[in-house]
Amino acid sequence: MFNSIIKRLFSCQSAMTSTNGLSAFLIQTHSLSPKGRMTSGLYPPFHHRSGDALLKATFSATYTSSYSTKIRSEDRAWAHWRKLKQPKLIVAPMYEGSELPFRMLCRKYGAEAAYTPMLHSRSFAEGMKYRSKNFSTCKEDRPLFVQFCGNDPDILLEAAYQVESDCDYVDINLGCPQRIARSGNYGAFLMDDLPLIKSLVTKLATNLTVPVSCKIRLFPSLDDTLNYVKLLEDSGCSLIAVHGRTRDERTKQRANWDAIKSIKNSINIPVLANGNIRHMDDVANCLEATGVDGVMSAESLLDNPALFAGFRSGDWVVDGDDGFENGGVDRGSLVVEYLKLCEKYPVKWGIIVAHVYGMLGKWFEVHPDVRDDFNKEKELSFEYIYSMVDRLRARGVQFPLYVKKTRG
Ligand SMILES: Cc1cc2nc3c(=O)[nH]c(=O)nc-3n(C[C@H](O)[C@H](O)[C@H](O)COP(=O)(O)O)c2cc1C
Repeated sequence: MFNSIIKRLFSCQSAMTSTNGLSAFLIQTHSLSPKGRMTSGLYPPFHHRSGDALLKATFSATYTSSYSTKIRSEDRAWAHWRKLKQPKLIVAPMYEGSELPFRMLCRKYGAEAAYTPMLHSRSFAEGMKYRSKNFSTCKEDRPLFVQFCGNDPDILLEAAYQVESDCDYVDINLGCPQRIARSGNYGAFLMDDLPLIKSLVTKLATNLTVPVSCKIRLFPSLDDTLNYVKLLEDSGCSLIAVHGRTRDERTKQRANWDAIKSIKNSINIPVLANGNIRHMDDVANCLEATGVDGVMSAESLLDNPALFAGFRSGDWVVDGDDGFENGGVDRGSLVVEYLKLCEKYPVKWGIIVAHVYGMLGKWFEVHPDVRDDFNKEKELSFEYIYSMVDRLRARGVQFPLYVKKTRG
């Protein structure tokens, strides 16, 4: 216990001199009024909580700054969020999907923050080769959530130490529902062992200089879900991203925005909503319906990385609706931009190929012979894919991305 307090104090000291998000929070301690209420615009009003619960939370997750001021972890969470300029439009974690060049493409088109793909904490902690193959970032790749899966607090912490100076949150994957997560006992299968989840979050929150976030799924019962997010918050989690489906629900099922709204109303740290975000009207509707602080999208970005800049696929433009026009960007030009980013920030060919399929899927449906040639190509190169895009364009089929007409 004593060791952990000392370590925490030490990490606060280093945060004061580092450039990471906590320094702003520490500097802001000047603005505490004598009663400990915040006077700066940086902090949100206290709400949702009774005085007793507030006190409990205060003492369960506080430390003493150099000004001998007790700071609640939820205030720290908000200060950090505000320092990051409160990103609302976020690229969700995607295994072999949200790697550096794709994140940078999405950022160019409106994404305000992004998650890495899930990284295995044990492999990451133990192997330089795994780290360099699976994680890369650059100065402009911020704000960044680095996501890990794992079930051992010490190993998770070792992995997190490797990235804490390169990211804005270390995220724990508590949502993966796949068979491999069941056999490895991580992701959404940890929901069966809440004490273990608590120990993972506490371990990171008390030792890292960056905040911890969690990406979760829902329990079938709302009460269970609300107890779950409370446990995460009380364990020191600074942000929760909620995929609004249970562990057993698949993406065909509509995400439960009502449950996300209840979560948002029951805790005092930033909450992100995930599920059913296909275009910017979904973003606006979700923010309005749930009151969350931001939204994340995954699958729709694979098809249309320009989603957050207001571009939408023809699938979401109703025939005869003259409120939309060709936005002047199509998936061919997005593929070219993506490839240029891959030339700058190299990634595995398998990832590049998956993105090319994601973005050019519709063109391939119309021109299966081009797709077949692409499938058969043994020596893929950037030149090959650039010329494949030219070949598709030469055939004259257009799949534009649309934008809303601006009213005169
Ligand atoms: C290709 C792909 C890979 C994914 N990989 C991850 C992952 O590594 N970690 C994670 O937490 N979720 C992962 N997800 C889930 C998404 O982050 C997201 O929660 C889910 O797809 C629902 O959002 P959507 O409706 O916008 O697709 C993945 C989803 C897709 C489509």
